[in-house]
Amino acid sequence: MLFLLSFIILASVPAVIGQNLTYLTGLLQTLNASGLTQLASVAPSLNNTPSGQRILSTLPQGNWTLFAPNNAAFGALSSTDTGNTTFLTDTISYHIVSGNFTNETASYPNVTIGRTLLNDSSLVMLEGNKSQVLSWTKLGNGTTAVLNQNMNVSVTNTTQYENLEILVIEAVLIPPPNITSILTNGAYNLTSLSPILSQATLPGNTTTLLQALSSARGITVFAPNNAALSAAQSTLTNLTSNITALSALLSNHVINGTSVYSPLISSSTNYTSAGGEPLMFTTNSSGTYVSSGGSSTARIVRSDILAENGVVHVLDGVLADVQSNPSAASSAYASATSIAAVSTTQTGPLGPTGGSASGSRSGGAIELEPSFQVGGGIAILFSLLGQLA
Ligand SMILES: *[C@@H]1O[C@H](CO)[C@@H](O)[C@H](O)[C@H]1NC(C)=O
Ligand SMILES: *[C@@H]1O[C@H](CO)[C@@H](O)[C@H](O)[C@H]1NC(C)=O
Ligand SMILES: *[C@@H]1O[C@H](CO)[C@@H](O)[C@H](O)[C@H]1NC(C)=O
Ligand SMILES: *[C@@H]1O[C@H](CO)[C@@H](O)[C@H](O)[C@H]1NC(C)=O
Ligand SMILES: *[C@@H]1O[C@H](CO)[C@@H](O)[C@H](O)[C@H]1NC(C)=O
Ligand SMILES: *[C@@H]1O[C@H](CO)[C@@H](O)[C@H](O)[C@H]1NC(C)=O
Ligand SMILES: *[C@@H]1O[C@H](CO)[C@@H](O)[C@H](O)[C@H]1NC(C)=O
Ligand SMILES: *[C@@H]1O[C@H](CO)[C@@H](O)[C@H](O)[C@H]1NC(C)=O
Ligand SMILES: *[C@@H]1O[C@H](CO)[C@@H](O)[C@H](O)[C@H]1NC(C)=O
Ligand SMILES: *[C@@H]1O[C@H](CO)[C@@H](O)[C@H](O)[C@H]1NC(C)=O
Ligand SMILES: *[C@@H]1O[C@H](CO)[C@@H](O)[C@H](O)[C@H]1NC(C)=O
Ligand SMILES: *[C@@H]1O[C@H](CO)[C@@H](O)[C@H](O)[C@H]1NC(C)=O
Repeated sequence: MLFLLSFIILASVPAVIGQNLTYLTGLLQTLNASGLTQLASVAPSLNNTPSGQRILSTLPQGNWTLFAPNNAAFGALSSTDTGNTTFLTDTISYHIVSGNFTNETASYPNVTIGRTLLNDSSLVMLEGNKSQVLSWTKLGNGTTAVLNQNMNVSVTNTTQYENLEILVIEAVLIPPPNITSILTNGAYNLTSLSPILSQATLPGNTTTLLQALSSARGITVFAPNNAALSAAQSTLTNLTSNITALSALLSNHVINGTSVYSPLISSSTNYTSAGGEPLMFTTNSSGTYVSSGGSSTARIVRSDILAENGVVHVLDGVLADVQSNPSAASSAYASATSIAAVSTTQTGPLGPTGGSASGSRSGGAIELEPSFQVGGGIAILFSLLGQLA
């Protein structure tokens, strides 16, 4: 009954957006046959929002990976959420990643980052209006687990439909929170950082660094953890009387205008900090290290904490670099912004190991059909009801 209902509702989609009826009904059949009946029952609600309709129309083209929450996961949602079509559209779009990641002979980075379809501007503020990313890894026992959730979310089964790899997961995924939430979340041991970021201001500006990080589009923060800040306490205390130097030091922990996820970091990549200093990376058997200005170095103890507007990597030390080069900083930012503005279609993992980007879609965003019109759905619904009767 549930199945029949969702079949009928989703069958009305093609008339609304000139869509592939065979494909979408086949998809619902596959979800239902795989026991994903809750997902199959909420999927038709995508048809109630323009961005949901765009998702339905884009799915039949290209290769996609669908992280499909099982029935127990959907059962844990409140009725307020399941009755909220914006929430459902945002949520489902965060579960669809562009690309097929199942090629066993290809080597994926330890943390794989894929571009999802979530680009609701109230939840995502990445450079170039790019869609939000999702991160996952392969655990030692071979299980794939989604990272950055309240717990690791394991993939419990996989299936396939046409151009869609379907990975069954045990939870409904939550899109990344804002920077402030990350810095105040006790689990990350970063709670000492935001009070310091609130003391420093941008040069010639009353905006605090914390406000600047929160409002940036595309930001990478190398965040010293509590132990690191405590070890550097006397240096930092000294610097509070020299806000310019403190601001330079903190800015050298930030890349402005680019979300640099760990697969984009290697000994051959160079970035310029928001303070205008060169940031360089080395990796050895004990981990990956970042250095600012060629001197002060710290180890990345946890990578890829995803944020609404970028990414945070946790450091075990403070980069004690108080140099600044405003013109290098602003030209790096201008360059990052113009690179981000170039439209790309991400069709695999971000990073050097296989991510291919081509085409004309803006960071995974989907163009709205110009001839888009709502209204024909009802007629087709009745004609289908006729056929089914
Ligand atoms: C519609 O989807 C079916 C099944 O996926 C496929 O065989 C067919 O080629 C598609 N038709 C169009 C017009 O894209
Ligand atoms: C995994 O999915 C397949 C295909 O949907 C299904 O036949 C099988 O029963 C599932 N296995 C488990 C353990 O759920
Ligand atoms: C989908 O992936 C296959 C290989 O798995 C590739 O040959 C094909 O070009 C891809 N299609 C698109 C539209 O990217
Ligand atoms: C519906 O969900 C959206 C996105 O999650 C949220 O911003 C909005 O407040 C929700 N609306 C209601 C009435 O709960
Ligand atoms: C994904 O790629 C693998 C091989 O790399 C292929 O076997 C599989 O059929 C592809 N999945 C889809 C949904 O196209
Ligand atoms: C899988 O990856 C390997 C190594 O990158 C590549 O040579 C091969 O063509 C890929 N296979 C498919 C089906 O994409
Ligand atoms: C791979 O990533 C996982 C999850 O972040 C992490 O626990 C593990 O230490 C990483 N392994 C290596 C070799 O970097
Ligand atoms: C692999 O390890 C994870 C985390 O410990 C666990 O949740 C999962 O069930 C394990 N998978 C298998 C197949 O043992
Ligand atoms: C960050 O998110 C939290 C939790 O959703 C919210 O209370 C807070 O107002 C947000 N802060 C900013 C600066 O957006
Ligand atoms: C946070 O710090 C405590 C005490 O130093 C340590 O036990 C814990 O592993 C740290 N957690 C993270 C996520 O670094
Ligand atoms: C202060 O910095 C903010 C954030 O970068 C910027 O939007 C604002 O224009 C700046 N104000 C002045 C007076 O420079
Ligand atoms: C703090 O500042 C004083 C005076 O400038 C200097 O002598 C001292 O070495 C500084 N201490 C640290 C830890 O930087």
